Order: sequence, then C-alpha cells, then structure tokens
Amino acid sequence: MHLGRTTLSKFLIQQLNGIEGATDLGALLVDVAAAVKAISAMTAKGALGGYLGELGSKNIQGETQQKLDVLANDVMIRSCEWGGLVAGMASEELEEPYPVPVEYSRGRYLLVFDPLDGSSNTDVNVSVGTIFSVLRHDQSQPPAANDFLQPGRVQVAAGYAIYGPATMLVVTVGKGTHGFTLDREIGNFILTHPNLQIPIDTSEFAINTSNARFWEPPVHRYVTECQAGKTGDRERDFNMRWIASMVAEVHRILMRGGVFMYPRDTKDLGKPGRLRLLYEANPISFLIEQAGGRATTGQQRLLDVIPESLHQRVPLILGSYNEVARIERYHAEHANGVDRPYTSPLFNERSMFRPEARL
Ligand code: F6P
Ligand code: MN
Repeated sequence: MHLGRTTLSKFLIQQLNGIEGATDLGALLVDVAAAVKAISAMTAKGALGGYLGELGSKNIQGETQQKLDVLANDVMIRSCEWGGLVAGMASEELEEPYPVPVEYSRGRYLLVFDPLDGSSNTDVNVSVGTIFSVLRHDQSQPPAANDFLQPGRVQVAAGYAIYGPATMLVVTVGKGTHGFTLDREIGNFILTHPNLQIPIDTSEFAINTSNARFWEPPVHRYVTECQAGKTGDRERDFNMRWIASMVAEVHRILMRGGVFMYPRDTKDLGKPGRLRLLYEANPISFLIEQAGGRATTGQQRLLDVIPESLHQRVPLILGSYNEVARIERYHAEHANGVDRPYTSPLFNERSMFRPEARL
C-alpha cells in the first residue's frame, strides 16, 4: 500500500542531486523534519499534554511566551545542533544567536526559525506552525549576529510546518515549492503536493482590519475597492479571512490563491510592520515566489530587503501575483501623488510618517 510513495528523504536525495553541499543540506532538512514531528506530537496533545498556557515570561520582542514556544524552540535546537551541519541558529525566542556547542562540530549552514508561529492560537486549538530558513556560513569562525543578516534572495532552503488537522511540511530548495503530509502511522512525511502553483488572480484577501485606521493609503485603497465588490472599481465580490496565524493564511494561499497583508502602519512608529524579516517574512516569501506568487514590502521585493538586525520587522504583502502587483502599483501611485482620494493626513507628503521617509 505504501509502495511508490515519495518520502521527504527520497525527494531530497532526488532534488539535491548534483548541488554542492547537497548531502549536508538534505541531512539538515531531515533534522528539521524530526523536530517538526516532535512539535506536532506536542501540539496535538492539547490540554492533555500539560503544555498549554503562558510561561510568565516575555521574549525579546516583548511578546508573552507560551510554554509551547519555549518547548518548540528547545526541540528545534536539540534536533539540529549535534550533526555537524549547522554553525549556529537564531530564533524568535532567543535574543542572541545560538552558537553550536564546542562538543559538536560546526557545519556550513545557519538555521533561523520561528519555532511556533501563531502561538497565541494554541489555547484555542487553531492551527499554528514552525517557519525556518537556511543560510550559508562558509567562514571558519563561529557565526556572529552579523553573519545572519543576509537578504532573503540568498536563502539556500526555507519551509514551514503547519500543525492543522493534518501536519504538513512545505519546503523549497529553490526548485519549486513542495508539500508533504505527515503519515502518523509510519512517521514519514509523504510528498502529496508537488510543485505548488498559486493562482495568479484571486478574490480573497487577508488582513487584520482592526488596524484599518493605522494603514498606509495604498492599502486602504486596495481594501476599500475589495469591499466595494461588484458595485466598485473591481467589478467583482471579494471574500476576507483572518486566522491570526500566518502559516495558516499562507498555506491557504498556496492551496487556492489569495492575498495576505501585514503592511507598514502607524500603530507603533518604532515598528515598521508586524512580522519579522529573517525568520517569518524571508522564508515565507521564498516559498511564495517559488510557487509563482509575489511578495513585497509595498515598495520593494521582500527578498531584496537588506537586514539590519536579527529581530527586524518588515511590512509584508504576499500571494497571488497579479493582486500583489496591483498593490505595489497603488504604492507607486501614492508615492507619485496620483491617488488623491485615498491620501490620509498621517501619510501626506509633509508627514514624518511618510513611508518612504521611514524605509
Ligand atoms: O508571528 C506573528 C503572528 O502571530 C502571525 O502568525 C499572524 O499573522 C500575526 O502575528 C497576527 O497578528 P494580529 O495579532 O495582529 O492578528
Ligand atoms: Mn511568528
């Protein structure tokens, strides 16, 4: 019954064939998958596992840490530190990078991850996920924080796991985006969604509309037009979704198209967006581009953003190619002053909050 199915390991051996450093990269992705299986088992136990609830501490971002955030972080580190594959790791839950302990040999890759994305959803039994990005580290020295500050376009591999009704792992090594489903009985990830392709057009968008008063005018314009539906400029009705778990939104978009926006806003001027560049926006944008979609800050391709700090936040708009291109066009039109009806005083030409002044 299981004959002929493509497991993650078999897939990686085939995909990485001929690529320099392939054996190590494949082995690292298998270690990440092992961590994902353990995190999947913990999240699936729900209240029976004793892992739910807050830990009583805050992470470097000032966010309340859930017990599962810290457990998932430890699982990923333990799973990936021993094999001589990575030189260091960085995580949403750790202020500084984690150097590989001296008793293990140092590898040629850096692993950057969000151990449990959307973790405020664990207590309400809504899908959460793990996001990861693999970067190169070719120097002989142990990595410093600066070594992690590589633009998303140079990622070697990226992926996420979604802990939903089924646990899935979605991965790219720069040769398309591929989805695997965890067969819990035999403990293997099986290739179920090869070569995912995001439809280029969509009538579905996702944004937290409670922030509407803080949005940039181009985003206001886009959402207002979607809401106007058949009677407005777009001449068709749109649907909206918001799960508050980026991995779940991105997964829906990979399956059937759509747009996800966490744009730049004026809610907290110290934060030019909600999502973190290195371990949320970059890996997700790599997967989206590899599936034929588009990812942008509004002003530039997301994968071209040059990181300045480990936990840097960034505006993120991604999904179906044509819709994201339209939202980019609205940003350009706003910058050129040709979208007058939507200009908000907070973002006008003389304002200190003007997006281009804060880039
Ligand atoms: O990690 C950030 C995150 O939890 C994402 O998974 C999600 O898309 C977003 O924040 C939810 O934000 P909000 O609380 O504003 O809905
Ligand atoms: Mn997250």
